[in-house]
Amino acid sequence: MLRLSLILLLASSCNVATAAETTSDQQCGTTMCITANANSTTVEYILTSRGKRTLGWMGMGFGSQMANTPMVIMWSNSDGTITLSQRQAQREVMPTVVENPPRVATLNDSLSITSGSTPQLAYTIPANSDQKQSVIYAFGTQNPGSSAKDATLAEHVDYGVLLLDLTKSSSTSNGSTGGTSSSGTPLLSYQRMIVAHATFCTVGFLLFLPAGALLARYSRTFTSMWFKGHWIAQFALAGPSIFIGVALGIQSVTEAGATHLNDSHKKYGLAIFVLYLLQCGVGAIIHWVKASDRTRRPLQNYFHAIFGLLIIALAYYQVHSGYKVEWPKVTGRGELSKGVNVFFFVWLAVLPVAYLVGLSFLPKQLRQERTSVLSRRGDGDLKLDQMGYKDRQ
Ligand code: HEM
Ligand SMILES: *[C@@H]1O[C@H](CO)[C@@H](O)[C@H](O)[C@H]1NC(C)=O
Ligand SMILES: *[C@@H]1O[C@H](CO)[C@@H](O)[C@H](O)[C@H]1NC(C)=O
Ligand SMILES: *[C@@H]1O[C@H](CO)[C@@H](O)[C@H](O)[C@H]1NC(C)=O
Repeated sequence: MLRLSLILLLASSCNVATAAETTSDQQCGTTMCITANANSTTVEYILTSRGKRTLGWMGMGFGSQMANTPMVIMWSNSDGTITLSQRQAQREVMPTVVENPPRVATLNDSLSITSGSTPQLAYTIPANSDQKQSVIYAFGTQNPGSSAKDATLAEHVDYGVLLLDLTKSSSTSNGSTGGTSSSGTPLLSYQRMIVAHATFCTVGFLLFLPAGALLARYSRTFTSMWFKGHWIAQFALAGPSIFIGVALGIQSVTEAGATHLNDSHKKYGLAIFVLYLLQCGVGAIIHWVKASDRTRRPLQNYFHAIFGLLIIALAYYQVHSGYKVEWPKVTGRGELSKGVNVFFFVWLAVLPVAYLVGLSFLPKQLRQERTSVLSRRGDGDLKLDQMGYKDRQ
């Protein structure tokens, strides 16, 4: 009982302490910064242009993605007034005015500066319980040209996600450019899905597929078992990884409320997935459909080997664009640590070398294949010329 009342006392004294305090944080994206000054009842937000682009409009939203996030968008008008428009969008389309937003924002005229090279626009809004607050920002270079709240907005030239710490007392910190500021935040559910997507796709495309290709390259002149290992790696192991990885990628876009196939990573990803399916088809055809009277190495065998290597090369490009471009772009969480890059490029160097070394078995392989064709036809060395193998000796 005593313990409980002590805890209550402590808790209430803490509350008193925070109520008197004002806290403040500033984080910056490429084109603009957001400053939050909070006390227990009100938060004041100042959106400041960094002067890198001409200001048309600036906005922010309470959430970490564009879809279904309450936004406050502001711009200045030719008559010297400032318009504050509270909006929302269901997808990545122009947000429309929300007449009765959950929290009403009020323009703070005296804190807003519309002239000069780094204009700022400020408003206050009732505080909610957020301590670490994920916000999105957007910067447009085209003034809407109307003071109406529902004026048409031209699309932003820059946007991102920032994390504001509403528990920080006084001193403001400078988030580095590009929004690396949110590295300490827990991942949101759609972001965890992206991490899983990346993991499954990387394992499928850059571990299992190369392993299966190398297995074929190194073992096929020694054992006929190589094919079993090859299809297990390429189909039974890589297949589920790739299917799950691609499905997670698609689902993460849906979950974030973002648009499908609207950038090169998404489009190439689908294309590489289709190429993988085709490659499995070609592999199966090579294996099941063998002309009994074949005299030279069938074209599809060359095709399968070259196409397989091409798919792996494309997968390298895709994985790189995924972590280097797509992740910072859609999550605003900044680039991954250097270690990821180092690991990627080491892996990028190791595999081709391993494959090139394995090519030293190629003469032996072609010799074996020639012998097996000859023995199948049973008519010895005499037909060598007609069978077209002489040039490859
Ligand atoms: C179930 C699916 C697959 C089957 C049944 C299959 C079957 C085969 C066969 C029969 C060969 C020998 C072709 C030859 O005579 O050179 C082969 C080689 C090869 N496969 Fe596949 N394959 C499959 C999937 C894949 C995938 C998805 C990749 C890579 C993306 C791949 C990469 C390769 C490579 C690089 C070689 C040549 C290896 C070497 O240098 O000898 N395969 N595969
Ligand atoms: C919090 O700040 C607002 C203005 O930003 C002010 O009107 C209000 O009185 C402040 N409340 C407290 C408890 O300090
Ligand atoms: C605007 O912000 C300043 C500084 O925080 C404050 O003193 C003033 O009361 C605010 N005005 C309005 C209308 O909220
Ligand atoms: C942020 O950094 C810039 C230059 O690096 C500096 O001019 C500015 O005063 C800083 N702002 C804050 C709030 O610390």
